[in-house]
Amino acid sequence: MTSTFGSWTLPLWQSLLPLGRDAQTGGYQRFSYTQAESECRVWFRQVAADRNLRTECDKNGNLWAWWLPDNSKRELAGAIVLGSHLDSVPDGGAFDGPLGVVSAFAAIDLLRERGLVPARPVGVAAFVEEEGSRFGVACLGSRLLTGAMTAETARELTDADGVSLARAMRRAGLDPAQIGPDPERLARIAAYVELHIEQGSALAGMGAAVGVAESIWPHGRWRLEFTGRADHAGTTTLADRRDPMLPYAASVLAARTAAAEVGGLATFGKVVAVPGAANAICSAVHAWLDARAPDEARLGDLVERVLAAAQDSATGHGVTMSQRRDSFSQLVDFDLDLRDRLVRALAARKIVAPVLPTGAGHDAGVLAARLPAAMLFVRNPTGVSHSPAEHAEPADCAAGVAALAIVLEELACR
Ligand code: GLV
Ligand code: MN
Ligand code: MN
Repeated sequence: MTSTFGSWTLPLWQSLLPLGRDAQTGGYQRFSYTQAESECRVWFRQVAADRNLRTECDKNGNLWAWWLPDNSKRELAGAIVLGSHLDSVPDGGAFDGPLGVVSAFAAIDLLRERGLVPARPVGVAAFVEEEGSRFGVACLGSRLLTGAMTAETARELTDADGVSLARAMRRAGLDPAQIGPDPERLARIAAYVELHIEQGSALAGMGAAVGVAESIWPHGRWRLEFTGRADHAGTTTLADRRDPMLPYAASVLAARTAAAEVGGLATFGKVVAVPGAANAICSAVHAWLDARAPDEARLGDLVERVLAAAQDSATGHGVTMSQRRDSFSQLVDFDLDLRDRLVRALAARKIVAPVLPTGAGHDAGVLAARLPAAMLFVRNPTGVSHSPAEHAEPADCAAGVAALAIVLEELACR
């Protein structure tokens, strides 16, 4: 980051940058309740403490920092909450999540520098396990908060080493028996606004530094398991094989074709070959399908086509196949009144913020089912995300902070 990021934000941004960064790739490995992520949690608490903001970790592992009106008697009703997440995908970029948290603190700094005080409580939230990189379900912290996922199901989720969420939480000093919906907390929030790097290049094409979210495509994750028979790669004739890699390969190709046909997106980004020897036919292949589409009918069609092709190919190769849906998110249309209010407040300060749909999931989308939620996007010049190459220009990050401060002033200081 150069100094154009803004003197108020540069040290804040830089203090987070080294945490969980892989020296080889430059990407981030910040998985929930690991050492790297707990360093990010310490960072969050320190940044809040430096600003005299009271912090708390809720029963689901989400972090909150509070800037309260002077006359507040610790009454949090009618709060405006900003925020995002600090965890990453494997080898993720620096911006996805952290930009929203850093910008939230920076927006508060900006208002304070101008001598403004909030008329209602202002919160900064960092939701846990947004990416689902460790326990497989994206937006786990906000799903638990809202009740979109049950505590029983969540406690049993396991990571790649078989460690359950319950165990990971206990190790982190949290009580997994307490997780679950938190309606009282939700009832105290009047609106949630998440700033996020755009995970596409629409803003770049429009020449705009910031945008406002219109909707999130419905999307979900499906786990496919192909079970065949382990055997020798050098002696088993092709006719004798029951190779689970073949229906897996057919599924990847079917996903590509079906996505193109329905106008959606389908990705196999994670696959585990068991036992994984170069000179052996696998006994099993586990694969994860991520599918998204503009509407639920097209998404259903897309997934049906992939699963049918997977089953057909499995049968043809003497392989058994099972599948289960790990997570699902419905279409989100962000609150129209809040969205319009944001666009108007920005326009009044001469900021033209185009309104965009996105295929990426966010905690704001989960919260939108329970309270008015909105998102600001910051231009991503290449559109690349979930990659170490993810980037936003310093000047655009500063524009994002300025936009978020305008929104915060509009919602919390009037
Ligand atoms: C979140 O980054 C997602 O997978 O959409
Ligand atoms: Mn992400
Ligand atoms: Mn994100």
